[in-house]
Amino acid sequence: MVKETNVSPKDLVMPYFVVEGKNIRKEIQSLPGQFYLSIDKLINEVKEIETFGIPAIILFGIPDKKDNLGENAYKDDGIIQKACRHLKENTKNLVIITDVCLCGYTKNRHCGIVKEGKIVNDETLPILAKIAISHAKAGSDIIAPSDMMDGRIGYIRRALDDCGYENIPILSYSVKYASSLYTPFRYAVDCAPTSGDKTTYQMDISNSNEALREVAQDIKEGADIVMVKPALPYLDIIYRIKEEFKWSVCAFNVSGEYVMIKSASYMNFIDEKKVVKEILTAIKRAGSDIIITYFAKEYAKEFSG
Ligand code: PBG
Ligand code: ZN
Repeated sequence: MVKETNVSPKDLVMPYFVVEGKNIRKEIQSLPGQFYLSIDKLINEVKEIETFGIPAIILFGIPDKKDNLGENAYKDDGIIQKACRHLKENTKNLVIITDVCLCGYTKNRHCGIVKEGKIVNDETLPILAKIAISHAKAGSDIIAPSDMMDGRIGYIRRALDDCGYENIPILSYSVKYASSLYTPFRYAVDCAPTSGDKTTYQMDISNSNEALREVAQDIKEGADIVMVKPALPYLDIIYRIKEEFKWSVCAFNVSGEYVMIKSASYMNFIDEKKVVKEILTAIKRAGSDIIITYFAKEYAKEFSG
């Protein structure tokens, strides 16, 4: 009766990696317990997690081909666009969040367009807007830009509005640190930059005031929900943002955080279920309303008995 924080399945978002093809459910080597899913298999998964009370999923697409300008990220029959259409036709209340970025779709695997070895921020914005519009058109319910270009939230907001998608909210990866905890994801999506790193656009791990400025800017530009990523090493940031802005906050409990627990539990060093409950409670207690976590399905399954 005196418990202040309870994590319920309705607080959670389950990530999925969608691939082209049929009948594919292949375990991801760098993310044990997570799978590459073709659209037909994704539907089964989603129906199952809906019965556990999870309201939302976030989709990451794995295109067949990468190019220089990320065309496969915004074409009508791209993997995410097909997945959204199919999910919309076959589910009733599911909330579909789609990650908007270029790094999974371009040969250099940076989140922005690269010209002469430099990330060209402003030339990237129209492409991100194209991706966002194509997702909304296909049925995505929430657009989640993860690229970290400056000014993208305002640019995407205007573009969505101009195309009649003024009711589609934006979940901004506002505070995305240049973390070493994304490695398993980068293996999974094959999106580790071929040269340089992401420190010119992702945030310096030692900064906390900058996080508040990023959030203030994104809210001004039209972000409906702001995200902090990773989650566990940045609970102080989640707390400060919630205190300062009283905005909807989402935390991304990322791939590196997932595999640390998975491998320790594989070695029987920790009790996985108890640890997962503890960390999700901590993330929520810090001030996060929504938690994106690869543990969503397992936690919710346990929760719903
Ligand atoms: C792509 C993207 C990344 C993650 C989510 N979207 C990787 C990156 O920025 O390099 C990381 C998710 C995770 O580690 O679970 N921009
Ligand atoms: Zn990216």
